[in-house]
Amino acid sequence: MRLYLLSSCASLFLAAAALPPGSVAAEDAPQIPLTQQGKRNGQWAYAYRRAERLVQQMTLEEKANITRGYRSDNVCAGNTGSVPRLGWPGMCVHDAGNGVRATDMVNSYPSGIHVGASWDRNLTHERGFHMGKEFKAKGVNVPLGPNAGPLGRTPLGGRNWEGFSIDPYLSGQLNSETIIGMQEAGVIANIKHFIANEQETLRRPYFGVEAVSANIDDKTLHEYYLWPFMDSVHAGVGSVMCSYNRINSTYGCKNDKLMNGILKTELAFEGFVMLDWDAQHDIQSANAGLDMVMPLGGSWGKNLTDAVANGTVSEDRVTDMATRIIAAWYLVGQDGNKFPTPGIGLKQLTQLHEKVDARDPASNSVLLEGAIAGHVLVKNRDNALPFKGKLAMISVFGYDATIPRTKNTDLLFSHGYTSSPEMEKVLLGHEAHFDQAARGGTIVTGGRAGANSPAYIDDPLSAIQHRARKDGTWVNWDLDSSNPDVNAASDACLVFINAIATEGWDREGLHDDFSDALVKNVASKCTNTIVVIHAAGIRLVDQWIEHPNITATIVAHLPGQDSGRALLKLLYGESNFSGKLPYTIAKNESDYSVYAPCMRSSEDDIDPQCDFTEGVYLDYRAFDAKNITPRFEFGYGLSYTSFGYSSLSINASKHLRPSKCSGDNLWQPAATVAATITNSGSMSGHEVAQLYLAIPNSPPKQLRGFNKILLSPQGSEIVRFELTKRDFSVWDVISQSWVIQEGEYKIFVGASSRDIRLTGALRVTNN
Ligand SMILES: *[C@@H]1O[C@H](CO)[C@@H](O)[C@H](O)[C@H]1NC(C)=O
Ligand SMILES: *[C@@H]1O[C@H](CO)[C@@H](O)[C@H](O)[C@H]1NC(C)=O
Ligand SMILES: *[C@@H]1O[C@H](CO)[C@@H](O)[C@H](O)[C@H]1NC(C)=O
Ligand SMILES: *[C@@H]1O[C@H](CO)[C@@H](O)[C@H](O)[C@H]1NC(C)=O
Ligand SMILES: *[C@@H]1O[C@H](CO)[C@@H](O)[C@H](O)[C@H]1NC(C)=O
Ligand SMILES: *[C@@H]1O[C@H](CO)[C@@H](O)[C@H](O)[C@H]1NC(C)=O
Ligand SMILES: *[C@@H]1O[C@H](CO)[C@@H](O)[C@H](O)[C@H]1NC(C)=O
Ligand SMILES: *[C@@H]1O[C@H](CO)[C@@H](O)[C@H](O)[C@H]1NC(C)=O
Ligand SMILES: *[C@@H]1O[C@H](CO)[C@@H](O)[C@H](O)[C@H]1NC(C)=O
Repeated sequence: MRLYLLSSCASLFLAAAALPPGSVAAEDAPQIPLTQQGKRNGQWAYAYRRAERLVQQMTLEEKANITRGYRSDNVCAGNTGSVPRLGWPGMCVHDAGNGVRATDMVNSYPSGIHVGASWDRNLTHERGFHMGKEFKAKGVNVPLGPNAGPLGRTPLGGRNWEGFSIDPYLSGQLNSETIIGMQEAGVIANIKHFIANEQETLRRPYFGVEAVSANIDDKTLHEYYLWPFMDSVHAGVGSVMCSYNRINSTYGCKNDKLMNGILKTELAFEGFVMLDWDAQHDIQSANAGLDMVMPLGGSWGKNLTDAVANGTVSEDRVTDMATRIIAAWYLVGQDGNKFPTPGIGLKQLTQLHEKVDARDPASNSVLLEGAIAGHVLVKNRDNALPFKGKLAMISVFGYDATIPRTKNTDLLFSHGYTSSPEMEKVLLGHEAHFDQAARGGTIVTGGRAGANSPAYIDDPLSAIQHRARKDGTWVNWDLDSSNPDVNAASDACLVFINAIATEGWDREGLHDDFSDALVKNVASKCTNTIVVIHAAGIRLVDQWIEHPNITATIVAHLPGQDSGRALLKLLYGESNFSGKLPYTIAKNESDYSVYAPCMRSSEDDIDPQCDFTEGVYLDYRAFDAKNITPRFEFGYGLSYTSFGYSSLSINASKHLRPSKCSGDNLWQPAATVAATITNSGSMSGHEVAQLYLAIPNSPPKQLRGFNKILLSPQGSEIVRFELTKRDFSVWDVISQSWVIQEGEYKIFVGASSRDIRLTGALRVTNN
């Protein structure tokens, strides 16, 4: 498979590889007009120079060939064409953002929402790097992630869990860490879905009905949905996936204003735009800025070269597409002998195949620490947790406590794009209960493209039994009954429930009657009831959270394969809760500013519209503005210890003045804020200190900084928040630029969006 590469072209690659990054000569400027290449760190400039050298040798057919997909004997979600004559091997592009999908011998990492709940930049970076190495070991050139859209406009969104947070700042920060980590590992990250892919309902055209049109005004687009994509481009992301939905009635993958205009010109994105699988597009999409169609030729193929022949698409455009693709390939170092044969580790599992073990023991601590970090303790009355040493008797209830019998979805449905969503739904245990809970067993990931399968799932009941064997604890369990008998001698009753979500469907609600009844029934018989919720999204708790026998509640999100072990370490205080909610848990569904996905206006509606009239007033921005008290606010999470905040200090830089800014200026420092955090409790623990900014004519608070630190008892540390000009800016529609307004900017530092401990202000004036 790899021979043609080595024989025909190795010397070309090696010669190119020998040039040090600093050696880009001025006269080597590109001959074709490409948007803003090579501006940042010289890293794209060098990649482009090498890409141009290779693309120059390609015929039009060869250039067009690498912009489309082909079938192959592997199960990659897509394979680009190759250029055998020049030894360019093509690329395997494959799902997804939470681990390598549809194969064996890989790890299952905590999912996006779990990572979002960790608020941990470092761990997020490490996860991106370790996951990236697994994709590389399997011969995946482009992992199809991470995810910055959907952000979560509707809390029912079926894919909200794939991303990190509904907050654009938090999403942007964690997406860039992930992208940098993945690309350091040698794979091309793919930030998706560009843009406003906020609901699964009507996400694609079906049976003559167009996909939903997300109608977003320019200011909201920039300040909310585009924000994390800006961070991703700034982090050097190699590829972007355009989305299934329409924006202002034009499909994302045909949208000139978005791809050419905003992404490639305004944001100066230098990599390539890839089609979401079989998304709407046509030959004109090439002129609108689409660079690659997947999974097959779509409407391109020979049509693209024909279109060049008849003048519909310029050859320069095709050259630009090929150059962008190859530049991304060079950017992360996939040339020479540095990359395995594309798709080598992604064969049909039912056929004899080489065992390509992508797992590295060095990833184990990232898997476990990541699993621990995304658990959020939301209730802990009278210090019910941690358990004080060995327990004599524990009772375990609920369908979510044990390993599912049917899962390993991905192994059975190896082809990402041909697998039947209906079948996957059945496998997830959804057939009877798909609306809310996956009652077939514990969940460590959500469903479909973002899912992957591990070698083991360390489920809660197994972990409890393992510990019981050591401690001599008596364990009772009944996982089936919704009204179980409770041994009255139980020291603690653990109830495990979940809330599943999956690509392809939006959820039907934020709580389910079966699970709520189970919790209430156990609580009526056990004075120390602890509820654990594995949740692929927001899960409401108001049916029972104030029940006097419910002493503790943990939102355990989607921890990946080390779920049970992570939970046990937390329950017994060997690790400490440090997660904070990356979204708001309301008291009631009706409290969300947007609740349901947009629907067709009638049975005859073939042109469904979705007006984002709420603007940036989503989640805590809306709860704050409308003064609605949430059950648990954005940024909330308890610890086993407590923290004091003091000594707020705010310094503005000379750049902080009323001004228009764009391009690299946006990332200039505007202010430094510092505060002292002290561990005032008796246990060591992490605190996530958060900074919110009140920008004039904007929501009361917007997250603009966070910092996670570990403090031992009585220890204290100064945390610093570096704010950029972008952090102070609003999008000005008239001048089409970011603008820092004159006026007062309140600064809030605290432990959540509603637990503000320190308040200060900056006045921005011309003097
Ligand atoms: C296009 O790519 C396919 C699949 O890799 C390959 O078989 C074919 O030879 C390529 N065509 C050209 C013109 O290089
Ligand atoms: C980041 O994570 C790595 C690997 O887990 C660790 O060695 C390093 O100390 C961490 N850095 C910080 C600042 O926590
Ligand atoms: C969508 O339409 C709104 C309202 O006319 C406009 O402000 C915005 O710039 C448009 N966006 C795109 C991407 O077309
Ligand atoms: C060319 O485009 C047409 C319609 O757009 C499509 O039916 C056909 O399959 C395309 N041809 C190739 C070779 O891709
Ligand atoms: C040029 O060729 C493309 C691809 O076959 C086709 O879609 C388009 O209609 C043609 N345009 C003209 C003006 O012939
Ligand atoms: C709490 O549990 C005790 C012990 O089983 C039970 O007697 C009591 O009724 C429960 N309280 C409530 C409010 O259900
Ligand atoms: C967590 O707190 C416990 C005390 O409950 C302490 O023994 C342990 O060292 C802490 N763990 C970490 C990772 O800080
Ligand atoms: C929200 O309010 C409605 C109407 O009162 C109620 O039926 C529903 O159960 C409430 N939701 C929750 C999570 O309590
Ligand atoms: C602000 O400047 C003062 C004086 O230079 C310095 O002592 C303080 O540490 C600075 N504060 C921050 C947050 O940088």
